[in-house]
Amino acid sequence: TTEVLNADPKGFRRAAEIWREGGLVALPTETVYGLGADARNDLAVARIFEAKGRPKFNPLIVHVADVAQAQALVEWNDLADRLASAFWPGPLTLVLPLKPEFGLSPLVTADLPTLAVRMPAHPVARDILQAFGGPIAAPSANPSGKISPTTADHVVAGLNGKIEAVVDGGACEVGLESTIVGLSDQPMLLRPGGLPHEALEAALGEALAIHTAADPLVAPGQMTSHYAPGAPVRLNASQKEQGEVMLGFGAVACDLNLSEAGDLREAAANLFHHLHRLDAAQAKAIAVSPIPNQGLGVAINDRLKRAAAPRG
Ligand code: TXA
Ligand code: MG
Repeated sequence: TTEVLNADPKGFRRAAEIWREGGLVALPTETVYGLGADARNDLAVARIFEAKGRPKFNPLIVHVADVAQAQALVEWNDLADRLASAFWPGPLTLVLPLKPEFGLSPLVTADLPTLAVRMPAHPVARDILQAFGGPIAAPSANPSGKISPTTADHVVAGLNGKIEAVVDGGACEVGLESTIVGLSDQPMLLRPGGLPHEALEAALGEALAIHTAADPLVAPGQMTSHYAPGAPVRLNASQKEQGEVMLGFGAVACDLNLSEAGDLREAAANLFHHLHRLDAAQAKAIAVSPIPNQGLGVAINDRLKRAAAPRG
């Protein structure tokens, strides 16, 4: 069974020790829980794919404790500098040309010439990464295609027995995965996430090109069906129909509300949490209120669209 570690120095030392031995430890970040392994260790990284049932062509994000660690891994540039100084540590992942001489496991990048790096802001993540002192590859700590975890309980419910440990750092504050920006070429939004693209554009001083499904190789993990609860999902519902439970937003009649006040931050933090609750309650069908498509609403709608997509 999977060990649940406390978020204290003893827990951090144990997590780092398991990583050094090639094991898997899930850790809290401000976005979602990540399933971490030493990014230099082929066997450890292979076990991430195995534990999640993740296709090998889908590359991983590497987590670092500081900017210098990121610069050792990728070819840094001015735009990276600008975005990292504005938003790191935080819910932003940068995709840059990989420095092959660093010696990351090729499984991390799925043999792409680029690497996704991120410096998380969660104090527990920062402490553990510092205790370890090396790059940690970490996808979200859920079985592939399922709802992302925002508590240690979600991690255990999905991966118990398949990973050595999870560090319990409480509920994730942002609740949506990081925003991914490609900077190896023209800057491009590869995945909407916990940092609204409006904030990115303000920092860049220009509009950000948005990745579309027409170029699937750019963001290989953007599967159509993802974040899927057990039940089918119906979007933009004004009210529930027979047999449905209603996941609301704003002042609407519903069974569970993402944010009664209509606050997108609160809705983002509640999204995966509520979907996990509906799964645990074995909901038969889920109807969801419309969500405004601006700020964090863009990422919420992206996740909901995938949750509602026909399952593969
Ligand atoms: O907030 C997050 O980003 C969380 C926490 C744990 O950091 N991690 C996360 O990882 O969401 P994951 O594996 O669930 O999603 C990573 C996404 C995938 O869609 C993957 O295809 C994409 O990042 N990705 C990774 N490396 C890439 C690369 N070199 N080029 C383009 N996309 C890449
Ligand atoms: Mg994921």
